[in-house]
Amino acid sequence: MADVSLSGIRKTFGNIEVIKGVDLNVASGEFVVFVGPSGCGKSTLLRMIAGLEDVSAGKLAIGGTDMTDEDPAKRGIAMVFQTYALYPHMTVKENMGFALRFAGMDKREIESRVDEAARMLELEALLDRKPKALSGGQRQRVAIGRAIVRHPDVFLFDEPLSNLDAELRVHMRAELSALHDRLKTTMIYVTHDQVEAMTLADRIVVLRQGKVEQIGTPLELYNEPANTFVAGFIGSPSMNFLPATVIAGDDGAPALNLLGETLPGIALPASVSAGTKVTVGVRPQNIRLAETDAASIEITIKLVEALGAETVVYATARHGEDILAVLSGQHMLKSGTTIQVTFDRNDIHLFDEAGNRLAG
Ligand SMILES: Nc1ncnc2c1ncn2[C@@H]1O[C@H](COP(=O)(O)OP(=O)(O)O)[C@@H](O)[C@H]1O
Ligand SMILES: [Mg+2]
Repeated sequence: MADVSLSGIRKTFGNIEVIKGVDLNVASGEFVVFVGPSGCGKSTLLRMIAGLEDVSAGKLAIGGTDMTDEDPAKRGIAMVFQTYALYPHMTVKENMGFALRFAGMDKREIESRVDEAARMLELEALLDRKPKALSGGQRQRVAIGRAIVRHPDVFLFDEPLSNLDAELRVHMRAELSALHDRLKTTMIYVTHDQVEAMTLADRIVVLRQGKVEQIGTPLELYNEPANTFVAGFIGSPSMNFLPATVIAGDDGAPALNLLGETLPGIALPASVSAGTKVTVGVRPQNIRLAETDAASIEITIKLVEALGAETVVYATARHGEDILAVLSGQHMLKSGTTIQVTFDRNDIHLFDEAGNRLAG
C-alpha cells in the first residue's frame, strides 16, 4: 500500500498540452476513479503514473518517494488495461505467473501467489485452460490476477470493463469492489462511465480537457457539483438546465423568474443581486407532476417511455428548452399534451453565467 501524490503534472505531445497541471493526493488504500469524456486525458494521466509516458512538468511521488523519472518496473505498480492481451499459448496459471517467473522469483512463491489470486478471483477450476477456452469475463479476471500476483503498492486500471457486455460489467464491478475491500491496496481506476465511477470510487476526479473540474466523494459530486459540467456529467439521465433571472420577491427575499413563473424562497449568496442571470439545474428524478398551478412550469410532452417502475417524459418548456423528467410510478401521459410540473426548492442547483455553482 502506498499513497500517490501528483503536483503540477503536465503533459505535452508536440506543442499540444493535453494535461494542464493536475494536483492530486490519493491516500494509501484509497479507491480513486478518474472520470471524464473520451479524450480528456484520463489514460495519459494514468500512464504517467505508471511510467509509460514521460512527465512533461510537475512531480509524481508514490509512497513518499519521488517517482517522476523512475523506471516503470521500480514504481511498485501493476496496471490492467481494457484489452487484456493474454499469451495464447500459455495456460491461465502460466499467464498469471509469467511476470514473476520473468523476474526470477522462487517457484514455490509463484505457485502460492497464483493460487491465492486464483482463489480470490474464482479461477481455480480454470488454471490449466488456455485463454481461447475462456469467456471474455474470465479472461479479464486472469488479467486482473496477473496484476494481483505482483503484490503491487498501487493498482492502475484503464477502462478494464469496457470490452465486456453490460451484465458482466455490473458483475465485475461488484467483484472489483469486493477485491478492494479484501486487498485494501491503493487503486486508481479510469473510466468514461459515470455509473462505474459512482459505484466504485471512494473519491472521484472529474477531468475535462486535461484539467480537474472537481474532486470529491460520489455523493459530494452528486449533491454539490462545482459547475454545470460536473452537474451534467454525474447522474443519469443528465441534469436539466434552464435559464432564469434573480428577482426581488414579495417579502424582499430573493426569488427566481423561471420561464415566467416566480419561484419564491430561493437561498442565494448575498452577492447575487436582482437582475442576475442564472442557470437552474434540476435532476430528472426531482421533477414531479404539479398538483396546483402555483410555482409550477408548463411543459409539452414529446415522448413518453413507460418503464413500469418509472415513467420517463421527454418534453420541451415554454421557449423550447429540453426537459427530461423521470416520474416515479406509472402515469397515463400522452405526447403532444401540455402538463404542469414542479420540484422542491431544496432539489435545485443554481449556477452563474460562467457555469459555476452559486447555491443549491
Ligand atoms: N501519443 C500521443 N500523441 C499525441 N497525442 C496524444 C497521444 N496520446 C494521447 N494523445 C491525445 O491526448 C488527449 C488525451 O488522450 P487520452 O489520455 O487517451 O484520453 P482519454 O483516455 O481520456 O480518452 C487526446 O486528445 C489524444 O488524442
Ligand atoms: Mg483512455
